[in-house]
Amino acid sequence: MLLPVAAMLTAAVWTAGSAHAADCATKVTSDFNGDGLADLIVGEPFRDGPGGEEFGGAFRTLYGGATGVSTAGNQYFNASHVIDLESDGHELGIYYETSWYRAPEGLRPSLKNQAQAYPGRGVSVRRIDHINYLGVDPVANRDFAVDVLGGMVTEQIVLDDGVAGSWTTFTNKGYDVVYTRDRTGTAGRLHHIAFATDTREDILRAADIALEQGVFIETGPHKHAIQQTFFLYVYEPGGNRVELCNAGARLVLAPDWQPIDWTEEERAKGQAWGLKTIASFHTHGTPPVADPATPGAT
Ligand SMILES: [Fe+2]
Repeated sequence: MLLPVAAMLTAAVWTAGSAHAADCATKVTSDFNGDGLADLIVGEPFRDGPGGEEFGGAFRTLYGGATGVSTAGNQYFNASHVIDLESDGHELGIYYETSWYRAPEGLRPSLKNQAQAYPGRGVSVRRIDHINYLGVDPVANRDFAVDVLGGMVTEQIVLDDGVAGSWTTFTNKGYDVVYTRDRTGTAGRLHHIAFATDTREDILRAADIALEQGVFIETGPHKHAIQQTFFLYVYEPGGNRVELCNAGARLVLAPDWQPIDWTEEERAKGQAWGLKTIASFHTHGTPPVADPATPGAT
């Protein structure tokens, strides 16, 4: 997932030209290996890999010990290395270099301030909007997103037995990453990935397109209470839930934004206009697992 990674890199700004971890301007600390001791990630520009690979720069993990951090067992990660850093087992990618997309001939925009020409086919989504992970411990995952990746909580579900969901942003959008409690008690699953459209009307048209194309519509079009997102949920052929969404012009511009907590009583009222949330929304995730509370459901 690129957004938290981007946020992490924002936090890990290093001194250009330095070849030594000690010269890095800032670093990221957390207990990455779960041994109860603080660990460290630093950037090393122009550093080759431990086997002499020409990374052109790298991240290096330094694990904490009884007497402080040490290079023993340290790991290098290059530009698009997949690394599992959060406690629930979702794999997050770290990258520090990228190149700007240049549209191929035939997709060049007439206006240079957009990535490519409007495709004009299918749903024509504007961008990846957010990802929603299912997890065993949404509090630990939320804290990882905030403390390690530099995110900010904008809204939460706080049920009678505690936090069951957290919406986190790394930008001025209402949310980029969501962690919600997996009712099956399974770690590391995906609830959905979402793509944003320009208008709410696009969501209605997307439903018509899904109908015509035989794409399974799970629920919607409708409006969430949380974040007020106008939504449509479909399953792609592999079974992953995909959301097509439009959040209107909701932006978080206050740096001291106060998280909105939704209580169990408020959640029981359903979605924004009273639609009850479909049961599969609480159980289906990928990879599918048997739901102990709903035999046969995944
Ligand atoms: Fe969503």
